[in-house]
Amino acid sequence: MPLTAAARIIRNARHVTAFTGAGISVESGIPPFRGTEGLWNRYDPQSLEMSYFHSHPRESWEVIKKIFYDFFGEARPNDAHRALALMEQHGLLHAVITQNIDNLHQEAGSRNVIEFHGNSQMLLCLDCGARRPAREVDLAVLPPRCTCGGVYKPDFVFFGEMIPEDASMRAFREAELADVFLLIGTTGEVMPASLLPEEAKRHGAMIIEVNTEASNYTTRLTDIFLEGKATAVMRGLRTELLIM
Ligand code: APR
Repeated sequence: MPLTAAARIIRNARHVTAFTGAGISVESGIPPFRGTEGLWNRYDPQSLEMSYFHSHPRESWEVIKKIFYDFFGEARPNDAHRALALMEQHGLLHAVITQNIDNLHQEAGSRNVIEFHGNSQMLLCLDCGARRPAREVDLAVLPPRCTCGGVYKPDFVFFGEMIPEDASMRAFREAELADVFLLIGTTGEVMPASLLPEEAKRHGAMIIEVNTEASNYTTRLTDIFLEGKATAVMRGLRTELLIM
């Protein structure tokens, strides 16, 4: 039974790190980017490219608002986010590296969260560098502007932007230290985040993967594939780990 085997490996591990993607938040009502219901089937990913944002801030913000501010508003953590927080509280998980910008791991109670692509909660003024909580900024007029007149950009990583230095260093350090890397809900499509499971494997980690379908990792890297929705699988893992 793969769940029992996964729980035994996690219980006996020295350093477990989780690596999550959009799939862990799907059951919180946030669509994934790829796949049949993927956001990139409905919106053009160029809206999140730095060059396009600079030249078409209003058009870019119209898509950004629909995807990240109209959708995300009411999303709440689900049992998969909560299971990871519980594992951390019981000393069975050292950190969560997330590609998501929805803040749901923190809201579920996880404390050591490495946000590889930043977070949608704050806006950053491209002129004066001021940061404001997105909820305090009126998004009725786009692009939203800072009091200095500069255009606000969401403080998450756009295509073509560098990964925040601190997040990158901490994430790759986790990949070196982990003897178990728990992948949840990611296609493994986007570099450099997608390199992290490869790095973990190269340093000898066991790869446990939770996904509703095969990803870029499943045949190449994954040692135990727990097929299913993140909430159902993580509820099962929590039970096998005897943590409530
Ligand atoms: N439970 C578990 N896995 C799921 C579920 C679910 N309920 N629903 C979907 N999935 C899986 C899909 O099978 C897919 O493998 O989640 C994954 C979602 O893949 P993507 O949408 O590509 O998300 P992600 O891998 O996080 O994308 C990486 O791409 O657009 C950029 O910056 C964006 O961080 C994002 C990055």
